[in-house]
Amino acid sequence: MTEPNFIRACRGEAVDHVPVWFMRQAGRSLPEYRALRGSGSILDAIANPDLACEITLQPVRRYGVDAAILFSDIVVPLEAIGFGVDVVPGRGPVVASPFRTVKDLDRLRPLTANDIAHVTGTVDRVVAELAATDTPLIGFAGAPFTVASYLVEGAPTRTFGVIKGLMHSDPVLFDALMDALVPITVEFLRAQVRHGARALQLFDSWAGALTRDEYQRFALPATKRVFEGVADLGVPTILFGVGTGEILDLMATAGSSVMGIDWHVDLDDGRRRVGGGPVQGNLDPARCLSGPDIAREAAREVLRRAGTAPGHIFNLGHGVLPETDPTVLEAVVALVHAEGRAGVR
Ligand code: CP3
Repeated sequence: MTEPNFIRACRGEAVDHVPVWFMRQAGRSLPEYRALRGSGSILDAIANPDLACEITLQPVRRYGVDAAILFSDIVVPLEAIGFGVDVVPGRGPVVASPFRTVKDLDRLRPLTANDIAHVTGTVDRVVAELAATDTPLIGFAGAPFTVASYLVEGAPTRTFGVIKGLMHSDPVLFDALMDALVPITVEFLRAQVRHGARALQLFDSWAGALTRDEYQRFALPATKRVFEGVADLGVPTILFGVGTGEILDLMATAGSSVMGIDWHVDLDDGRRRVGGGPVQGNLDPARCLSGPDIAREAAREVLRRAGTAPGHIFNLGHGVLPETDPTVLEAVVALVHAEGRAGVR
């Protein structure tokens, strides 16, 4: 049986059409999501497998994308071990008592299958529903540095001043934090694959806040260990971060099958920077806010830069913005399927 186009593109193989999905495709831009979701923490919605399954499938039905991404969040494994994290609507993850001293390491116990039974329950349901169309489910986690930034800062930050302070003032404690987060991340990813996820994306969303030296010293080693920890599973892996143009070459050594390219970097240039392997991206999400014609024009530019060589997964260069009109994304999917040429036999 041939593998789906998304999986083949991740492996740099020929495809029937260029595959497309959107980061944050499940969520606030969909009226059917807002209707289901109600108020309250997103973590409550994630804890309900029937609801989380339905939200995962909504964008697949509406857009006809080539992959589903699990409705979950990067802080879910930390909440599952009782670290004390919530996600505040309109703001993001907030930690009541941030990670600050060696004593806080005790709060980072290993993650067990039981802790995330709600997540794997959702994966089971989604995989069963997607079987009929052979649509792959992407599992995901936050990379240790990006997750640590929330645990240490306690809230979303623009400066990353607290976590950079920790790195440089107490590198031993910082390393111990990474050592605790790596096995939690690996187990979270492995559990999703055990239950049927067919690819994994690691979000190192805020790696772009680091200098090259900081990235190499403080973020890259843990990221490598995460990819080593899932390598035997044989599923394609994707590494993505925002504002990472200056460190893409370093990120490409972490061990993922595919490199996510954010929208700041032209896709052809990004592909050169990562050494020519498969890439995912990179339509500017803001170009999807002014109607289908402007979005199509920007999508054509991405397709032009993707060229004809195999190994392009079309995506946005970061997540769908909440105010995006879903019909614009429908138009982008139709265009990519009709006009994408990368690896099309
Ligand atoms: O992509 C998808 O559709 C799958 C679901 C998904 C969510 N979060 C659901 C969500 C994924 C892949 C994530 C990953 C995630 N979460 C990242 C990495 C991706 C990226 O954007 O760089 C990060 C940094 C987080 C942490 C987080 N969670 C933030 C910054 C926010 C936004 C806060 C806000 O409300 O603006 C969240 C909340 C969140 N996670 C929402 C969704 C659909 C929106 C809030 C809600 O519906 O309650």
